[in-house]
Amino acid sequence: MNIHSEATARQQRAPVRHFLSDADLSADELREVLDLAASVKADRGRFRRVLQDRSIVMLFEKPSLRTRMTFELAAAQLGGFAVFQDHRDGRIGQREPAPDISRNLDRWFDAIVARTFSQKTLELLAKWSSVPVINALSESFHPCQALADYLTLLERFGSFDGLKLAYVGDANNVAHSLLHCGPQLGVSVSICGPAAYGPRPDDLVKARQVAERNGCTVEVGEDIRQAVQGAAAVYTDVWTSMGWEAETQQRRIAFADYKVDSAVMRLAEKRAVFMHCLPAQRGAEVTNAVIESPQSVVFDQAENRLHAHKAILIKMMEDNHGQAS
Ligand code: CP
Ligand code: NVA
Repeated sequence: MNIHSEATARQQRAPVRHFLSDADLSADELREVLDLAASVKADRGRFRRVLQDRSIVMLFEKPSLRTRMTFELAAAQLGGFAVFQDHRDGRIGQREPAPDISRNLDRWFDAIVARTFSQKTLELLAKWSSVPVINALSESFHPCQALADYLTLLERFGSFDGLKLAYVGDANNVAHSLLHCGPQLGVSVSICGPAAYGPRPDDLVKARQVAERNGCTVEVGEDIRQAVQGAAAVYTDVWTSMGWEAETQQRRIAFADYKVDSAVMRLAEKRAVFMHCLPAQRGAEVTNAVIESPQSVVFDQAENRLHAHKAILIKMMEDNHGQAS
């Protein structure tokens, strides 16, 4: 049997659910995961054995503070454990093909959490894995971040009804996950930045279709005032993401008019929060005054990474291995 038919056979035997992008969860499932995250946050003791004897492996091609710490802690606090495999010195596939890596790891671990330069690497890992693969950030999406972000908004505002999130700056991985997740939950999303750095057209079409179904909107433009007006959340991220460092100087020029400062925050709703996935470049995409202001919820977002990761681990284990104990 050649490796392609073997992959097909494995998939036929045991269809595996992965979390490679926000679209891998339905709107109901997203809400279910957010509810679960709120429950594990409220009652840690109740969930302390749900992943007993379960293990996850974490393959990271890029640096991380929050994602690594919170996945490791999430596994431990749920009764399982995590093993970290540092791929910063050699990308996944360099020493050994991704299909081989998956077919080793899935014999030992119950889930693979991977941070990669390319979404295609995640897809390849997933194609060959009989255990769930979870996207811990790629160049295209950061779905685990979006879970924590929308949990933070839910806590702050009590419901998603009528909320608008304005994303200012580079339509990067974080922006694309916010773009997909928000409309599923009924949150309107407005992305503003230079046209050359806007969202991918296909993703935009899909997000707009979901928004239409859910009675909210998706807007894209270059006018920061228009984007931020009426927003309950103003979100930004670095102008140069990991992997794009060679473009730092040209991006600094391109995004110069898209800094979130106090004047921008005043254009949003009075109750608006400031959001950032971190790490932030203070003085570039956001001023120190804004990120340190009472409106800033950046450390709530960071805290919620832990609870969101617990919820997605439980959900993926239940969907793929049956009831978590
Ligand atoms: N927000 C986020 O993913 O942070 P890390 O890169 O530190 O994991
Ligand atoms: N957009 C950033 C997010 C870091 C958490 C990056 O990809 O570097």
